[in-house]
Amino acid sequence: MKTFLSVLVGLPVVLGGVNKGNVGKLPALGWNSWNAYGCNITEEKFMSAAQKIVDLGLKVIVLTSSSYTTVLTILPTAGYEYVNIDDCWSVRGPGGRDNTTGRIVVDTTKFPSGIDGLARKVHALGLKIGIYSSAGTHTCAGYPASLGKEDIDAKTWAEWGIDYLKYDNCNYPRIQADECKYCQELNITTRPCDRGFCPTGFDFSKTKTVERFNRMRDALDRVERPMVFSLCQWGEANVATWGNGTGQSWRTTTDITPTWRIVRYIANRNTFTLYSTNFWGHSDADMLEVGNGGLTPAEERTHFALWAGMKSPLLMGTDLAKLTQGSVEILKNSFLLAFNQDNSTGEPAVPYKWGTNPDWTFNDTHPAEYWSGGSRMGTFVFLVNVHDGVETKRLDFGAVPQLKGKGSVWQLFDVWSGLDKGCFDSGVDVEVAPHDTAVFVVTGSCADGTEVFKGGKLMQPDRDSIVVPIPPATVGGGRDGEENSGQD
Ligand SMILES: *[C@@H]1O[C@H](CO)[C@@H](O)[C@H](O)[C@H]1NC(C)=O
Ligand SMILES: *[C@@H]1O[C@H](CO)[C@@H](O)[C@H](O)[C@H]1NC(C)=O
Ligand SMILES: *[C@@H]1O[C@H](CO)[C@@H](O)[C@H](O)[C@H]1NC(C)=O
Ligand SMILES: *[C@@H]1O[C@H](CO)[C@@H](O)[C@H](O)[C@H]1NC(C)=O
Ligand SMILES: *[C@@H]1O[C@H](CO)[C@@H](O)[C@H](O)[C@H]1NC(C)=O
Ligand SMILES: *[C@@H]1O[C@H](CO)[C@@H](O)[C@H](O)[C@H]1NC(C)=O
Repeated sequence: MKTFLSVLVGLPVVLGGVNKGNVGKLPALGWNSWNAYGCNITEEKFMSAAQKIVDLGLKVIVLTSSSYTTVLTILPTAGYEYVNIDDCWSVRGPGGRDNTTGRIVVDTTKFPSGIDGLARKVHALGLKIGIYSSAGTHTCAGYPASLGKEDIDAKTWAEWGIDYLKYDNCNYPRIQADECKYCQELNITTRPCDRGFCPTGFDFSKTKTVERFNRMRDALDRVERPMVFSLCQWGEANVATWGNGTGQSWRTTTDITPTWRIVRYIANRNTFTLYSTNFWGHSDADMLEVGNGGLTPAEERTHFALWAGMKSPLLMGTDLAKLTQGSVEILKNSFLLAFNQDNSTGEPAVPYKWGTNPDWTFNDTHPAEYWSGGSRMGTFVFLVNVHDGVETKRLDFGAVPQLKGKGSVWQLFDVWSGLDKGCFDSGVDVEVAPHDTAVFVVTGSCADGTEVFKGGKLMQPDRDSIVVPIPPATVGGGRDGEENSGQD
């Protein structure tokens, strides 16, 4: 029936819970209360976040500089859109659910206008609003949750004007537990996975976990209002193998914290789920910690670049009123947002080389260091320094799958500084600060007569004029990738 209709109309006809209302084709961009406030939430904090999204120019981000427009064929507009309520919005304990209507009761001390009132105000700013529950009897913080009450809750949220549901995985009855667990450690070792873990080849799509999450998918499908369905599944039950049939995004690890340790850990783990990311379905590397302290500017850049590159949802999780200018600039990076929100390419950036470890090594302290992805603008290349000292990393055009065999001269734009770094033959060495990530847009538009650098070195953080070209006359004699001394 579905196929028949689709063919008939010639358009993706939306009948299932997935894709309904055309929401969730691209990763969600927005803000969520948890990383900033935990349970300590109020209507005022959401309105303040919504207003800040508008005031800081986070709502509409356009790549405007004319120096790019001549070279880069782009300019998608991207902006943070969702204002998402996390745990703790209702009455906890007795009275948490109205025993005549069966509905969850909003804590009107925290939300004097009700969630519907807040939704109206958020919508009036041109933004969308998200709510939170769990596929259990209670949320992670012990508030009423939706297992067995999916229909009434979906109906309630639809009536309130909710646009997005984050659905957690806490507090389900023992009888609803899976018979065995998925081992996230993959194929590196059997040690942490030898007890209670599912055998190789186990079919996770038949688990009780999937059943619990699909019940909410179906309930959302039965209400008219389209809502993005975001699974907060922590990677359990190998969600990457079935998440795309259930929701528009699925968490792949335990919770993020504002630490370099967990940024590396999540980057490593999420890498191995990227095969499941394309339009309409995204591996969720968890909400952003940019602005929360704990990460250096270099680490914030790596965090944001990888999350954007992996096409994870990008949900800011900080008090926007306290953001430094540096963090605002990271969150507003128009190149990375344009990559994340590119409607012409669904695939994320993926590693083309691991670096320190052999390719496909699963290692929580040393994730992959060389990544690339195609986009409307050109090829994005990410060079990650996971080490504690400065590293010189070679961007070798011949090693990048999107560039391989398509010529040896390419023009580079530095994504952080926005500067045109010029045209290079074969590749370039990039000196990357500890824990930082260099990101370039590599395009093919080097016009005839453009000076072409062979050798030289770029820096991350970018320091302009550090490139020292070997004069074209000596190109033939220069060793490919030869280092030249920097000048400033
Ligand atoms: C809750 O948030 C308010 C306002 O931000 C703050 O003053 C208060 O100290 C917080 N309470 C706790 C327990 O963190
Ligand atoms: C894709 O994005 C471009 C640039 O933002 C926009 O002009 C175009 O309408 C979009 N196409 C679709 C199918 O959404
Ligand atoms: C309904 O809930 C109230 C408190 O919220 C409680 O006092 C009352 O006993 C409940 N009624 C039933 C029939 O459970
Ligand atoms: C480990 O897993 C990856 C992807 O899941 C696979 O490509 C690789 O071949 C595996 N390595 C080993 C040694 O089995
Ligand atoms: C996820 O499902 C959508 C349809 O809902 C499909 O277009 C997309 O290609 C799927 N993603 C992957 C990675 O198969
Ligand atoms: C991760 O990789 C680093 C660098 O090769 C290595 O020193 C470390 O032992 C690895 N960790 C594990 C758990 O294998």
